[in-house]
Amino acid sequence: QDMAAFIAAMPKAEYHVHLEGTLEAEMKFALAERNGVKLPYADVAAMKRSYVFHDLPTFLKVYYEGMNVLLTERDFYDLCYAYLAKAHSQNVLYAEMFFDPQQHIDRGVPIAAVIGGITRARADAEAKLGIGSQLILCFMRDLTADNAMAALDAALPYKDKLVGVGLDSDEKDNPPTKFAAHFAKARAAGLKVTAHCDVNQKDTLEHLREALVDIAVDRIDHGGNILQSPELIGIAKTKDMAFTVCPSFSGKVVVDGQPVEVVRGMLDQGLKVSINSDDPAYMGSSYITEAMIEAQVRSRLTKAELVRISHNALDTAWLTPERKAGYL
Ligand code: HPA
Ligand code: ZN
Repeated sequence: QDMAAFIAAMPKAEYHVHLEGTLEAEMKFALAERNGVKLPYADVAAMKRSYVFHDLPTFLKVYYEGMNVLLTERDFYDLCYAYLAKAHSQNVLYAEMFFDPQQHIDRGVPIAAVIGGITRARADAEAKLGIGSQLILCFMRDLTADNAMAALDAALPYKDKLVGVGLDSDEKDNPPTKFAAHFAKARAAGLKVTAHCDVNQKDTLEHLREALVDIAVDRIDHGGNILQSPELIGIAKTKDMAFTVCPSFSGKVVVDGQPVEVVRGMLDQGLKVSINSDDPAYMGSSYITEAMIEAQVRSRLTKAELVRISHNALDTAWLTPERKAGYL
C-alpha cells in the first residue's frame, strides 16, 4: 500500500505507449456516434469483453479494428489530449508517444489530420497541464516495405513534428533489416530510430542483433530476450542502450532453464530499463502507474530500484541535456 502510494507519487516519463492503444472503449463509442460509424458491440461492457488476447496477432486484430472510429483531425486531438491528461494525472512529466500512420492512410485519413490533431493536443497539454511530449512514427512491419516508405514520404514534410521512427506490429518473419532503407532515410532527416523486439517471438535474438548492430537503433522497445545472450547484453551495455519494457506485454523469458522477469533480469544485468504502459486501453486501463505497480510486485522492486528506473527513464528522453535537466 505504501509502495503503491510511493509509485503513484513518483515523477515519471513514458516512452512506450501507442496512442491508438490509449483509445478507451468509452471514447470509441463517443467517436463512433460523432462520426456515424457503426460498432459491432452493443455497449462499452460488451466491447471490453471482446478484449481477450492470447498472443500478439490476436491483440493486433482488435487494436487495428478499434481505429476505425478515428477519422478527423479532432478525433486525433481528442485521443492524444485524453492520453496526456491521464498521464499528467499520474505524474508523467514527459512522454514520447507512438502512432501508426499506415493504418490511417490506408483507411483514407489524410496524414495532415493525424499529425495535425496530435500536434495541437501536445501543444495544448503542454500549455494547460505542463506535460511535455514528442511523437514517434511507427512502421507497421507486417505490411510491405513500399507501404511503409509511402507513409514515411507522406510524413516527412511534417518531420519537425516528429522526434523519431519506430517499428511495431507483427514481428513474425518481419526483421528490422526489412526497413533498413526507411531507417536510413529517417536518420538522414534528423530523426531518431527505435524498434520493437517483442518478447518470445520467432527469431527474437536475430532481430535484436539486427536492431543493435545492423540498424544501430537509438533505443529498443521491449527486448526482454536479450537476457538470453551475454554477447548481446555486452553490445547493449557498450552502447548504453535503453530498453522500454511493458509488463503488460512482457512475460518471463527463460534464461539457462529458469524463467526470469524481464525487468528484474535487466536491472540485475545493469541494463538501462524503463517501465511503460504500451496499450493501456486494451490492458484493463493499466496506465504507467499500474504498470509500475505490476512490475514492482512481479520483479520485487525496492524503492531504490524504482528511483533508478525513474532516472533511467529521464535519461532515455530524446531531448537536449538542458531540456532533460529541466525535468529533474
Ligand atoms: N507490439 C507490436 N506492435 C504493437 C504493439 C506491441 O506491443 N502495440 C501496438 N502495436
Ligand atoms: Zn509497443
